[in-house]
Amino acid sequence: MNEQRKTRSDKVWQQRELATRFLEGIRGGVPLAAEQIDVLHRVVDGCGIPIVKILDLGCGDGILGLSLLERHPRAQAVFVDFSETMLAAAKQRSQSDSLRCHFLNADYGERCWVESVSDHRPFDLVVSGFSIHHQPDERKAALYGEIFELLAPGGVFLNLEHVSSQSKWGEAAFDNLMIDSLWDYHRQRQSKHSREQVADEYVNRTDWSANILASVEEQCRWLCEIGFTDVDCYFKILELALFGGRKALPANSVHQKRE
Ligand SMILES: C[S@@+](CC[C@H](N)C(=O)[O-])C[C@H]1O[C@@H](n2cnc3c(N)ncnc32)[C@H](O)[C@@H]1O
Repeated sequence: MNEQRKTRSDKVWQQRELATRFLEGIRGGVPLAAEQIDVLHRVVDGCGIPIVKILDLGCGDGILGLSLLERHPRAQAVFVDFSETMLAAAKQRSQSDSLRCHFLNADYGERCWVESVSDHRPFDLVVSGFSIHHQPDERKAALYGEIFELLAPGGVFLNLEHVSSQSKWGEAAFDNLMIDSLWDYHRQRQSKHSREQVADEYVNRTDWSANILASVEEQCRWLCEIGFTDVDCYFKILELALFGGRKALPANSVHQKRE
């Protein structure tokens, strides 16, 4: 494993300014964000089990979990984040669906987060968006094990994530894609920012040091070692990937995999 940080730099996400800047200035500029959510929905639709309980881990304003609730009208969702600003934004967005939503302030950097969701387990679907990469690799792998424990048989884990490049030029290509996409987003909102200003903000942002990227291949290997089946990367563009797997159904289950 890489040399990784001893202090919890992910805690920058508990700062209101960073949460607000992400929600107002960055999330809408993530390249192919709509396509990523579309692929996530398609993978969930393909898994062939009824989706009744959803967990959105590091939910931010609830973008993933809420889009799933829209698509699965009988489902309920638990939204976990350790930022009060993010949870407030998620509550605000979920107003029309509030009876199906539970919000929990918990820090999944520590194993005890599992207790805070235990009243809602087991989950048919656990999703996470651009969040777990703030954990050191050892904690990422342990967290994937905890998610496995929380899943119902047949349940699915999907992680939409910032992953590492294999090379410096892959990193540079990703940074350029992000800057172009953020600049487009600025222009859509009539902002006068130049590309240079957008690039400067991107390079000097305060959460940069909280990123601890691991490759999608390595993370899929951890999932297989934990016992997830059907592990796959369903979408990838440079450093943005949607990957995951499922907890196998018992052999005699009525929900069979499509042949
Ligand atoms: C980059 S934002 C992504 C938010 C949302 N999932 C999305 O796709 O837009 C990362 C989120 O993870 C949350 N987060 C980071 N580390 C966390 C931790 N250890 N426990 C709980 N939430 C965490 C942050 O507060 C933030 O809301």
